[in-house]
Amino acid sequence: MNKKEYDVLGLGTVAVDDLLYVPAYPLSDSKIQVERIERQPGGLTGTALAAAARLGAKCAYAGVLGMDDLSEFILDSFKRQGVDVTHLKKQPDARPYHSTIIVDTTHKTRTIFFDLSGAIGADPHWPAEEVILSSRVLFVDQTGVPGMIRAAGIARRAGIPIVADIELKDLPGMPELMALVDHLILPFQFAGEVTGKTDPAAALKALWTADRDTVAVTDGAKGCWYLTRSLPGQVCHQPAFQVQVVDTTGCGDVFHGAYAAALAEGMAITERIKFASAVAALKVTRPGGQAGIPDRFKVEKYMKEHI
Ligand SMILES: Nc1ncnc2c1ncn2[C@@H]1O[C@H](COP(=O)(O)OP(=O)(O)OP(=O)(O)O)[C@@H](O)[C@H]1O
Ligand SMILES: [Mg+2]
Repeated sequence: MNKKEYDVLGLGTVAVDDLLYVPAYPLSDSKIQVERIERQPGGLTGTALAAAARLGAKCAYAGVLGMDDLSEFILDSFKRQGVDVTHLKKQPDARPYHSTIIVDTTHKTRTIFFDLSGAIGADPHWPAEEVILSSRVLFVDQTGVPGMIRAAGIARRAGIPIVADIELKDLPGMPELMALVDHLILPFQFAGEVTGKTDPAAALKALWTADRDTVAVTDGAKGCWYLTRSLPGQVCHQPAFQVQVVDTTGCGDVFHGAYAAALAEGMAITERIKFASAVAALKVTRPGGQAGIPDRFKVEKYMKEHI
């Protein structure tokens, strides 16, 4: 099938975060009244797709979710964001990741209790091959590695680019999955763990293979380093845009989503990395992971004023 139905197809991590705001983190065996409770959608793939959709890409999520209220919350938020869920697989025992986050509003700390039970991500036999082939970019992460390997294999054989965000290395099949990825974008700390290298250039070189198109490492306010096929052997650095930091939640996920959207549009590598950096920087200026994602108009205006 050559007709492209979707710009970016994702299969992996979706998460529900319940934030409980309290004046101080309580001692054990005590009680405390919460000031406010908020439920927010998140997850590497969930937030990347939300960002790509906000920037104008046609996105779809085709991982596995269940029938519980957490799954419904994710479905509703995808629908509101314009992310297509036609090809979602429903399975009674499946759920998103679920975190309860205690936010101490006086001391500005966050304590996270996370529950991964029921989280499936990519199914090993789902979605149908045609769905993968009808996408311009496949987005993969670490949830459901066998399903990711299958999907990435199908995409590879069809010449469909694969963008990956990975933060966990010791999972069965991970080396095989990483080998299939042609746009590998990792947080620098994780890239350091995988390669044993302590500087970005050395980590990039260790991650490079002839099968890759681009390898990038991101390092928060220090920006992003990348190696790319069209500039052989040259380690490039994109500084982070200087912004007033309000909330960095999800900025790496947003960077990935913006990169994937730009790739689906055919944006060249230097502009693509700059664009993703600007989108992530604007996110940092607003509270909330997905709530803080800027729209296209805001990004273009910002880039005109700051480049
Ligand atoms: N304080 C900041 N100011 C400007 N840009 C930022 C800032 N923090 C992050 N960014 C942008 O976002 C990109 C990704 O950030 P980072 O390296 O922190 O991702 P991450 O570690 O994967 O974070 P996450 O916890 O969201 O997954 C950076 O390369 C940079 O372009
Ligand atoms: Mg990240």
